[in-house]
Amino acid sequence: MQTYTLNNGVKIPVIGFGTWETPNDTSGVDAILYAITQAGYTHIDTAAAYRNEESVGKAIRESGISRDKFFVTSKLWNTKRGYDNTMRAFDRTLQNLQMDYLDLYLIHWPAIETQFPDTWKQINLDTWRAMEKLYKDGRIRAIGVSNFMPHHLQPLLDACEVVPAVNQIEVHPGYQQVEAVKFCKEKGIQVEAWSPLGRGDALTDQTIMDIAARLGRTPAQVCLRWVLDKGLLPLVKSVTPSRILQNIDVFNFSLSPEDTAVIDALTDCGGMCLHPDKVKF
Ligand SMILES: NC(=O)c1ccc[n+]([C@@H]2O[C@H](COP(=O)([O-])OP(=O)(O)OC[C@H]3O[C@@H](n4cnc5c(N)ncnc54)[C@H](OP(=O)(O)O)[C@@H]3O)[C@@H](O)[C@H]2O)c1
Repeated sequence: MQTYTLNNGVKIPVIGFGTWETPNDTSGVDAILYAITQAGYTHIDTAAAYRNEESVGKAIRESGISRDKFFVTSKLWNTKRGYDNTMRAFDRTLQNLQMDYLDLYLIHWPAIETQFPDTWKQINLDTWRAMEKLYKDGRIRAIGVSNFMPHHLQPLLDACEVVPAVNQIEVHPGYQQVEAVKFCKEKGIQVEAWSPLGRGDALTDQTIMDIAARLGRTPAQVCLRWVLDKGLLPLVKSVTPSRILQNIDVFNFSLSPEDTAVIDALTDCGGMCLHPDKVKF
């Protein structure tokens, strides 16, 4: 698996295996184990909010492959913001995973002005201070954020000691987030693309289907190649063996500039298209 190099020198595999809605039971463990042992994924994305960190840890242990061959990400949920809460939530995440360090820990969503009119910047900063402490203590190899738009990131950048290594945001055909991606690239922050298939919706877009048919590829492979070609890191979820295999088999074909431009011009291919300032959670 190819890697990107984060702003602190840590290498991260260019495709991650998503686990939102992957069940926290035997079927979930089997899907993750299949992804590891049959398809070769080493980068797994989970979150406290997914309530399946236990299954991620179990699948990694059952694979028999040593921990240091994996890149494991988890995320701090919104109810756990603040310095002390973050410290406790991180310990809980490691307990769930039965691991003694994380490769990447992210603030799942920014505290926002509509919910915390006077304190949102301070809340994000207090949370970040805890992330910095955990990072400096060697308990996390890289720290970052998720769903941060430039106006959430800038106050953090103005005050932080450690620049976030990653921003994980929704990106798929029809939802490019051009401004946020540009901002992150300028600041040396690696963008990870969540819902790169638009939660499956983009796969029935006629333009994507036509390009895939012409190239002898699947619509999912076209979406993932398009994300990778932008220098972004797709996190793709499946619990279906054939799809798990297909979604990592994207390194032996390319999209022409013409096809890329056509996909760039798409405006609605489904997905959640969630704006972080408008969420209620
Ligand atoms: N930071 C955040 O706030 C945030 C938010 C959302 C997601 N994420 C992360 O990003 C990951 C991916 O996002 P996502 O799960 O929302 O959506 P996604 O990966 O875009 O799409 C997943 C859906 O597509 C289906 N699928 C996968 N591969 C397919 C293929 N080759 N052909 C046809 N259908 C296919 C899956 O079905 P089956 O599983 O049934 O095969 C599932 O229903 C998540 O799992 C999570 O790790 C992060």
